[in-house]
Parts: sequence; C-alpha cells; structure tokens
Amino acid sequence: MDKFLIRGGKPLNGTVEISGAKNSALPCLAATLLTAETVTLHNVPYVKDLITQRRLLEDLGATVLTPELHTQKVSAANIEIFEAPYELVKTMRASVLALGPLLGRFGQAKVSLPGGCAIGTRPIDLHLKAFEQLGAIVSLEAGNVVARAPKGRLIGAETFFEKVSVTGTENVMMAAVLAKGKTTIHNAAREPEIEDLAELLNKMGAEITGAGTSKIEIEGVESLGEAEHTIIPDRIETATFIVAAAITGGELTIENCQPKHLTAVIEKLRETNVEIIETDESTLLVRCPGKNLRSKDVTTEPHPAFPTDMQAQYMTLMTQAEGASTIVETIFENRFMHASELVRLGADIQISGNTAVVRGKSNLMGAPVQASDLRASASLVLAALAAEGETLIDRVYHIDRGYERIVRKLGKLGASIERITDNMSNGAEQTTS
Ligand code: EPZ
Repeated sequence: MDKFLIRGGKPLNGTVEISGAKNSALPCLAATLLTAETVTLHNVPYVKDLITQRRLLEDLGATVLTPELHTQKVSAANIEIFEAPYELVKTMRASVLALGPLLGRFGQAKVSLPGGCAIGTRPIDLHLKAFEQLGAIVSLEAGNVVARAPKGRLIGAETFFEKVSVTGTENVMMAAVLAKGKTTIHNAAREPEIEDLAELLNKMGAEITGAGTSKIEIEGVESLGEAEHTIIPDRIETATFIVAAAITGGELTIENCQPKHLTAVIEKLRETNVEIIETDESTLLVRCPGKNLRSKDVTTEPHPAFPTDMQAQYMTLMTQAEGASTIVETIFENRFMHASELVRLGADIQISGNTAVVRGKSNLMGAPVQASDLRASASLVLAALAAEGETLIDRVYHIDRGYERIVRKLGKLGASIERITDNMSNGAEQTTS
C-alpha cells in the first residue's frame, strides 16, 4: 500500500495545470453506452476511477481506445452484457452510472447495489424511484439492482428528487434521452458536471434543456450518434491547489481551470484573506502574503453553494487561521474522518454531530497519519505541506482515485513529497525536491 512522505514548511510557487474533472468524465464515459457510434472524449483525467470506469465499459463489450493519455474513443456497438458486477461496483460506486444508459438504450440493466463507503451509507433509492417513474420495473435480486422497461423502452414522465442527487440526476438524464416522450426532472442537481454531461448528450443528438438549473427537460429521441467532447476542468482539484498556495504562503498560477465553477469557494477563501486574482477566464493567481488567514464559518450545500468535496481541505486551512471557525457538513453523514488525523498533527478540532469547530492557529507538527477517503487524503496532504517536519500518509490509494499525478504536480511547485511503494523497484512515481 503506497504512502506519501512529505517534509513540510516550504512555500509552493509556480504554475500548475488542472486536469479534467473526474466527476464529469465518469458520467460522460457512461453516456457512451447510449450509442453504437464512436464517442471521443478529451481531457479525461488519468486517475484510478477512470481506469475502473473504462474497465467496466470493456467488460460490458465496448471497445475503448486511448490514442493519447487524456483521450478516450469509445464504441459501444457490441454490448452483449447489461450487468455491472459487484467486483467492480464495490471498488467504485460511480459504476451505478451504467444503470441509466443500459436501461435507456437496451431496456434492461443489472448493477450490484453499491455498498456504503467511508463518508456515508450513500443509498441509490432516489435513482431507482426516478427510474420507476419512467416506467421501469426495479427489483433487488441477490444484492443486485435489476431494472427493466416492460415494453423495452422507458416512457417519459415528470420525476421529482426529494433530495438533490448529483449521480441521481445524471442517471435519470441518461435513461430519459431515449425514452418515449418528454421527461422533466424536478429538484435536479445543478453542478457544472451535470451541464457538461448534458452538453455531451446534446452533441450525441439528445434534446435536453435546463441543465444547470433545478428543472431539466428532456424530449426523448429514437437514437443517439457519434460525438466529440472535451471534459471540463476539475473544480475541486482547482480549489485544492488554491488552498495549497494559501496554507504554504506561496504564490501559484493555476491554469486550465474554470473559476466560474467555483464562485462560492473563491468567495469564501477571499473572506479568509486569500488573495485570488482571475487573470483570465481559465487562469487564477493565488497568494496569501504572511499567511495571515482569518477564520470564517462555512456550511456545505449543493451547487452553487460551497461544495462538500471541499469541506476537508477547508478544515485544514482553518487550522492555520486565527480564531474559531464552524464547519457544518449537510450532505454526508460521516465526512469528518480527516479531523482526528488532523488532530494527530496538532490541530484543535471539536466535532459534534455534523458540526466541527476548528480553533487556530495551530502549529502543525509532522506525524504518521492515515487517509480514509479521497478528499480526506487531500486535506492530509495540505496539512503535511504546512506542518513542520515529516508526515507519512498511509493508504494514499484514496488520493490516486481523483488527483492526477499529485506527487509530480506538487513536486514541481517546490514541495518535498515522495511516494513510497511497497517495492521501490517498480519505478513508481516519486518527486523530491
Ligand atoms: C457525487 O456523489 C460526487 N461523486 C461526490 O464526489 C460528491 O461528494 C457528491 O456528488 C455531492 O456533491 C460523483 O459525482 C462521482 P449525491 P453522489 O447523490 O452523486 C443522499 C468525490 O469526492 N442520497 O449527490 O453519490 C446521499 O446519501 C465524491 O469526488 C440518497 O439518500 O452524491 C447524500 O447524503 C465523493 N439517496 C446526498 O443524497 C440517493 O438515491 C447527496 O448525494 C442518492 C443520494
């Protein structure tokens, strides 16, 4: 199991290029199942979750070519299997995104019910309820969700989400594009990744309006065709690097990003005294002179509010701010596991239910810590970069799921970070400086 060895205390300086958005590439790759024609996706991040998603498509019978590292050309002409097996789904719950396209194009789908994960139970009941509203018959058989359209084709309908669900909205959009008639999704998620998926689907011939708002309308069509699409930049990676610049007192130029996808985060970080300058529509200049951060409260909520995927990184930043800050997590029921690891590094954090109170400024001192999930790993890396001395982070396979070449990117900015693998001889990525 890989570890990161980080020697903190060095300001990060220089330029970093943001990779494609993991949480857009995952549904977009699933959407390629909706046509027998070739769909080409550019700016696909080279991260573990996308390697898993590609394997799922190939297991279903699709052909996936990678003409260059960040491009995937998919042809789902010969889909013979309509099942996403437990072995795959248990490693990545986003495999449930195969449900919508398989049901929409073939009228049948069988996907292992995803287990919970570190941050919560993460049910998919709302996905299934929406499929039923489109006429599907859904049952649970031996741990698998089995869905089928009685006459081989779903029927467009009004669907309503009791809770905003990102992949729920994506799954229903992909099921509805080939349904007979019109579908309206009420209380839809508004994340930029939803808009990106809708843009790809419309390029394939779908008729979707309202993506990015809480009401999405879809006119079912007979079939979808080939398309070429570039995935949006990863807004959470962008925000993570903004925090990296601030917490180390460095100065970063962040390229290939989309600041307009991050307004709530940028606003909040400016309140804490981080200087964020939009030098153009895809570049940010970030610095935090003297690292004199102010503590500011935050509550996570669905987009366009402050995203839950930035909560852990923000908590780390607040350990370096003067005063007390209150962080309320409203999306997931167990997303504070990074807090106890931050306390091991010297942070002062009190948890009560879904509320964390962080008191700073703490002098963080390096120590061995353990990652628990993707964003918690990022928060520990940020803390290690700010801490005095050495921090050894275990279970960094979590971070490899969603951050492309994080060791190389940080190393190029002056961080002293090294990947330690069980057998050094396999030439694993390592950067020390
Ligand atoms: C997506 O997960 C993201 N993953 C998550 O990012 C992100 O944290 C989350 O949206 C919230 O923004 C991908 O896009 C692949 P939800 P998703 O359905 O869709 C409850 C990361 O770090 N709920 O919006 O699974 C659910 O339990 C990951 O990149 C139901 O109760 O999240 C949660 O409390 C972590 N029933 C809330 O709704 C359902 O059927 C929001 O979940 C579906 C969801």
